[in-house]
Parts: sequence; C-alpha cells; structure tokens
Amino acid sequence: MMAQQALIADGVHKSFSAPSGKNSLAVLEDISVNVNQGEIVALVGPSGCGKSTLLNIAAGFEKPDMGQVLFMGKAITGPSPERAVVFQSASLFPWLTVKENIAFGLEKAKVKQKIIDEKCSEFIQLVGLTGFENYYPNQLSGGMQQRVALARVLVLEPKMLLMDEPFAALDAQTRLAMQQVLLSISMAIKPTILFITHDVEEALILADKVYVMSKLPGTIIRELEVPFDRPRPISIIGDPHFSKLKSEILEQLFYEPCGSYSTC
Ligand SMILES: Nc1ncnc2c1ncn2[C@@H]1O[C@H](COP(=O)(O)OP(=O)(O)O)[C@@H](O)[C@H]1O
Ligand SMILES: [Mg+2]
Repeated sequence: MMAQQALIADGVHKSFSAPSGKNSLAVLEDISVNVNQGEIVALVGPSGCGKSTLLNIAAGFEKPDMGQVLFMGKAITGPSPERAVVFQSASLFPWLTVKENIAFGLEKAKVKQKIIDEKCSEFIQLVGLTGFENYYPNQLSGGMQQRVALARVLVLEPKMLLMDEPFAALDAQTRLAMQQVLLSISMAIKPTILFITHDVEEALILADKVYVMSKLPGTIIRELEVPFDRPRPISIIGDPHFSKLKSEILEQLFYEPCGSYSTC
C-alpha cells in the first residue's frame, strides 16, 4: 500500500531580518521534508539551526519566503487544531486538575460529559497517569506534567503532532521514560508526528525516519530510515548498531570541513 502523505515541505527557504533591520539572517535553505501518516519523523540538528523555525512554518505560525508546505495536500495558510503543537514547557492551567486540564478542549467543543469522561480515562491511562486524575500541576513532577500536556493534545485527536523538543527540559532519566511513553502511545494509536530535537539518541529511539540538519543556515545534510524494529526498549541504546549510527550522526553534526570540531 502506498504511504499516505501528511506533511510535505518542499524547497523551503526562510530568512529573518536582523534587529538593525539592515542585514537578513538566512535560517532555512532549501529544506524538503516528508512525513507520512502514522509515521514519526525526527528532525535533529544543533541549537539555533532553524528547527523551531521549520516547526513554526508547519504549524502555520510563520510563512516560508520560498517553497511549498502542504498538509494533506493543501497549502498551510495558518494554525489549525489539525496540527497540534507540543512545546518544551507543558504550560498547563495551574488551577485545573490533571483530568480538568485534559478535559478542557473537549468541554470547549461541547462534547457530551459521558464521552469526555471516557476519553479522559482512556488518555490518562495511555500516558500512565491513572491515579493522579485529581492532582494539580504543581503537585506533579516535570515528566508527569509533560504526560498531561501530551494527553491534553491527544484527547482532541489531531491529525498530526508537531513536537518541539518536548522532553528537552527534563532530566536524562525522565527523558528516557517519556520517550518510552511516546513509543507506547505510538504503538497504540499510530499518531503522525514531526519531532524536533537536538538529541541524536532521542531521534534514533523514536523515529521511523530522521532528517539531520546542519548548523545555520539550516540545510538537510542527511536523511535516514531508522533501521530498528519496534518496540524499542531503553536497552536499544546499548546495541552496537545503534551506537555506531549515533556516533556517525554526531560526527556529521559537529565536524567542520576544515578538519576541526565546531565549538558551539
Ligand atoms: N522571529 C525571528 N526573528 C528573527 N530571528 C529569528 C526569529 N526566529 C528565529 N530567529 C533566528 O533564527 C535562528 C534559528 O532559530 P530557531 O529556529 O529557534 O533554532 P533552533 O530551534 O534550531 O534552536 C536563530 O539564529 C534565531 O535567532
Ligand atoms: Mg528550537
């Protein structure tokens, strides 16, 4: 069966004018990426290479200077609940409980209470928060807050998730745990995800396909199909094939053509 395309960026260029207003900064140069339905595609690159800029274009917050960005075959003209964005900070409503935070969007959409209750418990279970329904955000760890943020978005069943370094603020162990949460969600409901990260290991654990971006101006320097089967337990990090691929990509990211390593 042919894969159904979800997001296509084709030949995207983007510059920003410098604060002085004189020179412009080329941020994205000829970026083409393709996310099929039900796929997790990671975009990995060093800090400041334009990853968030590309995500913002896919979200409809920014427009490309050149090139095309299509979602389900249609040009993206602005933000849409079809393309839900998940950021590094969970930004939950502090005055609402876990369940109320997750129910919020459904209530706004005037969904029947019975269905809200069913969906909330389904997604609370999916992100591993059963038993914490009545906790407030300040009573939760950072990882648990990100679980709520995920459930709150997933419960609305968007066609695609745009995730901008969602686990980057978490400690290393919590990050690994959250990657496993996302993997189990992906096994259960097969969401379509563009996942932005600066972390090569994270990209390889999560994604079906990885695009590697260069330093500014961001270009795609490599595209690879991730060769590991699912499920992918944490122990995959110890697999020699995994480590080899990881170090190969790190080399590509940080090695300068002049023969030295970048210091940024
Ligand atoms: N709205 C903006 N105006 C001017 N410059 C911007 C704007 N957004 C991003 N930039 C610049 O674009 C570059 C890439 O930023 P960003 O996409 O946030 O990178 P990343 O997410 O990979 O860290 C940075 O140099 C940043 O200063
Ligand atoms: Mg960013």
